[in-house]
Order: sequence, then structure tokens, then C-alpha cells
Amino acid sequence: MTRICVVGGGGYVGLGYAVALAELGHDVVGLDIAAGRVALLNQGTSPIYEVGLPEMLRRNLDAARLRFTTDYAEAVPGSDLVFLCTGTPSLSDGEADLRQVRSAAASIGMHLVPGTRTIIVNKSTMPVGTADLVAGIVAEYAPEGARFAVISNPEFLREGRVLHDILRPDRVVLGGDDEEALEIVAELYGPLQAPILRTDHRSAELIKYAANAFLATKISFINDIARLCERLGADVTDVAEGIGADERIGPRFLHAGIGFGGSCFPKDVGALTRMAEGAGLHPGLLRAVMEINRDAQRRFVARADELLAGLDRRVIAIWGLAFKEGTDDLRESPAVAIAEMLMERGAIARAHDPAARENAARRLPRVILCDSPVEAATGADAVMLCTPWPEYRDLDFTEVARSMSGDIILDGRNLLDASHVAAAGLRYEGIGKGADRARAADAASPQVARGA
Ligand code: UGA
Repeated sequence: MTRICVVGGGGYVGLGYAVALAELGHDVVGLDIAAGRVALLNQGTSPIYEVGLPEMLRRNLDAARLRFTTDYAEAVPGSDLVFLCTGTPSLSDGEADLRQVRSAAASIGMHLVPGTRTIIVNKSTMPVGTADLVAGIVAEYAPEGARFAVISNPEFLREGRVLHDILRPDRVVLGGDDEEALEIVAELYGPLQAPILRTDHRSAELIKYAANAFLATKISFINDIARLCERLGADVTDVAEGIGADERIGPRFLHAGIGFGGSCFPKDVGALTRMAEGAGLHPGLLRAVMEINRDAQRRFVARADELLAGLDRRVIAIWGLAFKEGTDDLRESPAVAIAEMLMERGAIARAHDPAARENAARRLPRVILCDSPVEAATGADAVMLCTPWPEYRDLDFTEVARSMSGDIILDGRNLLDASHVAAAGLRYEGIGKGADRARAADAASPQVARGA
């Protein structure tokens, strides 16, 4: 049993680790400066929508292996390890904002105890070189005789699967030069039976950014191929399947659509771009990844505009507002960008999301929020599916067709069964479905042979 303090213990990453480390049998105190959150957590209420979290939180509170506080003086002294999980949001130029990290490092330093040794585990996604910065700040504030080591240990957690990804990681990356501290942290992860990669601080920090940038690149790559499919009469789903079957490429993160969002990919690709620029490079690939992503959303709106012959006063139903399925998170959500673009062009936006309604009421006050997808589609000229919630696939499209005033279903995530939608008398449009468009064009003018 190790005594662990998790700084930033009320956020996605911090709360996930606090709860999971307690579940593994450690004595954990979660520290967060947000007093409201801490009070809720101590009562067993999770402020975060995450599968399995409420149950695991309550179980470990009841077992007295877990508690939350706002007070560094209560949390840091006596801890063998301090996990640093504060947020690193973006500044307006894309650079990572390290204010929370700096202030947490100073507070940790101040509360180290002379005669003890503490290992600080950096979980926050921080630009390359930040481990040295953290060590410098801690050293500046630490009392004489307090010893500490810093280990870089990036996280690779997906929202909606945080506990799964903590407890069943593909790999654990540990960066640092203090062999004893590296060994202690490696032992902590031992029960998870994942491969452990040991490296230096800078490589560990870069692994996090490079992993997210690579996944984002896969998505922008397939979205670029989707554009080509539309022009050349091919089907991107088949193309993705065909290339993904090559084990060097792999099938995941090749779903074409309206692009990536969330609190990580846009922020981290932006921060990596800034790091490369700061190092005197021209990160053309990273810039293209972001440009293709923005373009995916613009093109989706332009397609609706084209099909409806203008968006002014058109009623559009948006299915899904969260940045992906399984979460209520609207940060950098492509659906939010699309809703805003539609309304700027005079459209009336009605929307449904199974989880994000409360957040949407704050973030998108002009959108009419509905209790069901059919209610959102009522009186709509078109439906635009933006988040691939599985329940949209199983809808009764005859009922949808009856409630709509138009007949267009734009599927921004290629989620729906096109034949199912068409059977209800609706017109289906996916992303990168050039083969469908070519067939429709052939049907409209059968005497003109395609490709002639
Ligand atoms: C992402 C990474 O997947 C995690 O490994 C990483 O730890 C995390 O960022 C982070 O840095 O904290 P997350 O933001 O939760 O996790 O979301 P993803 O599941 O990766 O999806 C990101 C976006 O890409 C979503 O908008 C999703 O709809 C979109 N996406 C994903 C696609 O458009 N196509 C795909 O094939 C896959």
C-alpha cells in the first residue's frame, strides 16, 4: 500500500487516477482547488460523466481508501507519491498554458517535509522540457532537507473509457533519470501487466504529443481521402476497410466524418505545432491536419446549404452535440462548430443529444434542445447527424420521415444504414460516399455512361 496524493484530483485524468489507484488498494487523497467539486466528491457524487466511475468512487470512499481535500498541507506531507494531473489548456496562439502546473508545483514544493523523499509523477500533458521546469519550481519552494524526484508519466486515456484505459493500458511510459524513483513507479504499475517503456524526460513528454498527433493525422488523412472519394466516385468506408486490413496501417481511427474534437487532439496538435515552430521548423503536416479538420466541418455545412438551396430560415435538426459518443463533453466539438455556422447563416437549429443537454443549454443558448431525435427532426428541412451515438442507428426512420417537413438526412459520421433510411423515403447523404452520388447521377441520366 502506497500513500498517494493526486493533484488535480477533481478533473478527468486526476479523478480517474485517484479512484483507480484506490481500487488497486492504495491510500489516496485527491486534491483539487475547486471546493465545490471536492465537497461533491466526498459525498460520493462524481461531477464527471464516465462509465463505472460513480460506483468505483463510492466503493473506495466507503472503504476509507480515498478522500478529497482542497488543502495541500493535509494532502502532500505523508504522501510517498504525488501525481500531478492539473490541466494544460491552450493559450490563444495554441501554446500550452502552464499556469496551473506552475502553481501546483510551487504548492507541492512548499509542503514537502524535511527528511522525507517524495516522487512527483507528471501526468499532465506538458510541452517538452516541462519536467525540468517542474523540478526547478519544486526545488525553489521545497524546505531544506526535503528530497524529491520527478518522473514523466504521460497518460493516454480516452474520455468515456478512462477507468478501462487506466487499468488496462497498452503501455506505460516512464521518463526520468532517477533509477530508484523509476523503479518505484514501475512497481506501482506492475499489477496492470502492461509493457513498460523507460526513457528520458523529453522523449516521454514527446511520446504523448506524437501519439495524439498521429491519431489526429490518421483521421485527417481519411477525411482527405473522403473528399477524393466524393470527386472520383468511390466509397471511403470501403477504402478505409481495404487499407486498414493491412496490419501495418490498422483499421482504427480511419472513420471519415466531420473531424475530430474534444479537449485533447485540437489542443495537442496546436501545442506540438507551436513547439516545432519554436524550434525553428515548419510543421507543414501538423498544420494540414488542423486545416483538413476545420474544412470537414465547413464542407458539411456547405453541403447542407447546397442541398437546401440556402440555409436562411431553414430548420435543421442536429443529432448529437458531444464531441464523440459516450460523453457529455462539448469542448471543441465539431457539432458545436456546425451548429454555430448554421445559425450564422440564418438557420434555425433544433438538437438532441442523449448526454450533453445540460452543457448544451449553457454553451448553445439559441439552439432548441429536444428530448428525442424524432422531436428534434419535427418540422426540419434536414437532419445533420454530428455525433455517432449508436441509438441513432436504430431509429424508426418512417417515424422520422413523418415528422420532418423535408427529406434530407446528412450523416456526418457514416453511422446510419443508408438503405434503411432510403426505405423510409428519405434522401441519405454520407461523407466520402462518391459511389452513391455517382449511382444517383447515373440514375438521373442513364443514357450517359459513367466515366465516358
Ligand atoms: C484522445 C486520445 O485517443 C487518447 O489516447 C488521449 O489520452 C486523449 O485524447 C488525451 O490526450 O487526453 P479523446 O479526446 O477522449 O482521447 O477522444 P478520441 O476517442 O480519441 O476521439 C477524438 C475525436 O476524434 C472525436 O471527436 C472522435 O469523434 C474523432 N474520431 C475518432 C474520428 O473522427 N474518427 C475516428 O476514426 C476516430
